[in-house]
Amino acid sequence: MSKVLVCVAWPYANGVIHLGHMAGSILPPDIFSRYNKLLGNEVMMVSGSDQHGTPITVSAEKENVTPEVIAERFHAINKRAIEDMEIDFSLFTKTHTKNHFEVVQDVFNKLLDKGYLYVKESDQYYCPKCGKFLPDRYVEGVCPDCGAENVRGDQCDSCGKTFETGELKHAHCINCGTEPQVKPTEHYFLKLSAFEDSLLKLMEERPHWRSNVKSFTTNWLKDGLNDRAITRDMDWGVPVPVKGWDNKVIYVWFDAVIGYLSASKEYSKIIGKPDYWKEFWEDPTVKHYYFLGKDNIPFHSIIWPAILMGYGGLNMPYEIPANEYLMFKGGKLSKSRGGAIDIPSVLERFDADVIRYYLSAVMPDTHDSEFTWVDFETKVNNELASNLGNYWHRSLSFTKKNFETVPEQDPKESEFILSLVKKSLKEYKEHLDACDFKKAIKVIMELSSEGNKYFADKAPWALIKTDKDACGGVMAATLTLTKALALMAWPFMPKASETVWSYLGMEGSIVDAGLDSATEPIKAGLQLKEPVPVFKKIEVPKEWKDPDAAKKEEKPKQQNKPAEPLTGPFADFRKLEIRVAQIVWIDDHPDADKLYQMKVDVGEDEPRSIVAGLKAFYTKDQMLNRKVLCLANLKPRKLRGIESKGMLLAADDEDIGGSTVLLLKPSKDMPNGTRIDCGLETRDGKIEYEDFAKVKLKVASIINGKFNIDGGKDIELPEGAPSRLVAVVDTDGKLIPLSDAKGCIATVDKEITDGANVR
Ligand code: MF3
Ligand code: ZN
Repeated sequence: MSKVLVCVAWPYANGVIHLGHMAGSILPPDIFSRYNKLLGNEVMMVSGSDQHGTPITVSAEKENVTPEVIAERFHAINKRAIEDMEIDFSLFTKTHTKNHFEVVQDVFNKLLDKGYLYVKESDQYYCPKCGKFLPDRYVEGVCPDCGAENVRGDQCDSCGKTFETGELKHAHCINCGTEPQVKPTEHYFLKLSAFEDSLLKLMEERPHWRSNVKSFTTNWLKDGLNDRAITRDMDWGVPVPVKGWDNKVIYVWFDAVIGYLSASKEYSKIIGKPDYWKEFWEDPTVKHYYFLGKDNIPFHSIIWPAILMGYGGLNMPYEIPANEYLMFKGGKLSKSRGGAIDIPSVLERFDADVIRYYLSAVMPDTHDSEFTWVDFETKVNNELASNLGNYWHRSLSFTKKNFETVPEQDPKESEFILSLVKKSLKEYKEHLDACDFKKAIKVIMELSSEGNKYFADKAPWALIKTDKDACGGVMAATLTLTKALALMAWPFMPKASETVWSYLGMEGSIVDAGLDSATEPIKAGLQLKEPVPVFKKIEVPKEWKDPDAAKKEEKPKQQNKPAEPLTGPFADFRKLEIRVAQIVWIDDHPDADKLYQMKVDVGEDEPRSIVAGLKAFYTKDQMLNRKVLCLANLKPRKLRGIESKGMLLAADDEDIGGSTVLLLKPSKDMPNGTRIDCGLETRDGKIEYEDFAKVKLKVASIINGKFNIDGGKDIELPEGAPSRLVAVVDTDGKLIPLSDAKGCIATVDKEITDGANVR
């Protein structure tokens, strides 16, 4: 048995947590912590409401109340929502507490003593009209790196870049719109630069970090670390524990990350063992896991480790399973940008387990993933209810009705079922050890479908009439699997699993039994209880599934402009409607072994059906949820009976001697539907494949600022452009990068021969 510390990013207390928080940073650690409890490990899982900083004061000013009102209101709502989702924290506390203040100030003082903090005058935004400094979110503007608009003064949510004062383009005060001045003010700075080598070493000792964590961290480290201001000109927050600093507070990020430590200490006090936290923080064998969304990565892979290094004697993060974003209709689900799906409202209609199932099945762990209510309904009904729910119910109700108690095992049947369980359990553990939740839940569903197949093959309803003993053996095996599935499903769907456990008449709790008891046959003689199906089919309200339905009906039909022939540069290219898109569903084509059928979100109300011959090159897992570029105005055609409304663009070097086929993708995370038109004037209208074939699109690597094809023509690239991109070649040989108007460029994942054609 070992100890595990599970840390969960603290949600800001300026709004109600929504499905994006759940899928991104709150549900995964709960699954992980429950899994560890099943393994017999001792888990401490902590988090709380992040109550300081400009997110809270900005909301308070909007409502004309004190920050405390906002911070307490949303803490209460969110704490409750988290409990209702069956998230099993040791402690979900908040940052505006005496305990937290003390711990933060202790860390501050220690770093100050050790020389890791120093005072420096630096430039800050200042609004002349409002007459005050504008920290962090009080300024908005355009990201100098990725061009995203309405970005906050401290960090770009699109590309993750954090800013120094003055870097933001078109900066303006969020209160009055005035362009801010830049004024000097004194702040405490954290000597991040002192930790560069140790941070690099930390990352090197963590080769298992996810690629997004490694790349954010490497990007920061590569440019050298700047010391960062850790105080702010405002009065809501943890006071700076230094005389004469009454009008400034500690920066919210500096205080929030310390929450992991302060909450561990608070929990220890609550359980009456004030030194308990030391067993987790000072024993170097205890692993610390930090669950968060990708916008929080540098704060956990750089800033927090630096603070810990400065403080000394405490464990470093071991794993940071940062998730990508859960997308909703092509945009990031976000409370502060509208379009949120808040947990209390969702819970009014659906059980926590059902929501937990769906969020696990579409978890954005390696790619952004898409949430839709249509898909929610489909997956809950067709997977959860019809597969697992059905297996549990038919096995329990049939045995209860015909045997009353668990029948004697038949060694042959039992062995067969246990071999299935053992194989699945091994995969399941591998996935969960690696925090691959989506894959782990898939293993459960596959095991349950094997159970359903077994049940159907054995046809106990017929067998009972001819050989009751044999039927008993089959049902005992069936119930062994029922029990195994309850154990394995518990981290994901705790309530339903516990209910099934009780229907089986099991003594003790699921945690007491432990995961490895899944491979033991169920005991004969247990008194079964009358089961009720734990998952029923659900119905999502029509307006949720299609909120635009009403609007759509009113939309006037678009007038087709008369089709004047297009002339001039890139005339053929300008007839193409190429859009950023994402594969939201994929399956084998039933009647063709080279084809996939897919649903592809091209940024419209509904995803499109598209068929593509990519089976030889990509697995379904590699395709699902990935971003692609779609030729959206190709005339629909049927491929082996299935309609295909568009074409995914792929580069292919076969005709120039290679054997690689690679899907194109946007160089940046752009919303689905973003038009890739090189900023040129285009004309709409459907085209034939021949029209597309006329256009030359070629992959080229960029070497010394030149395309490495067609004689190496010069190219002007925005900063951060990929090193390999797709070029549009005009009839006269002119080359431009295939891109949108703002520097999102078409590229490919891997190497391919330069000059490969796109088809
Ligand atoms: N409140 C931050 C957010 O929602 C996360 C803080 S994580 C912590 O993005 F570690 F700093 F607490
Ligand atoms: Zn102003």
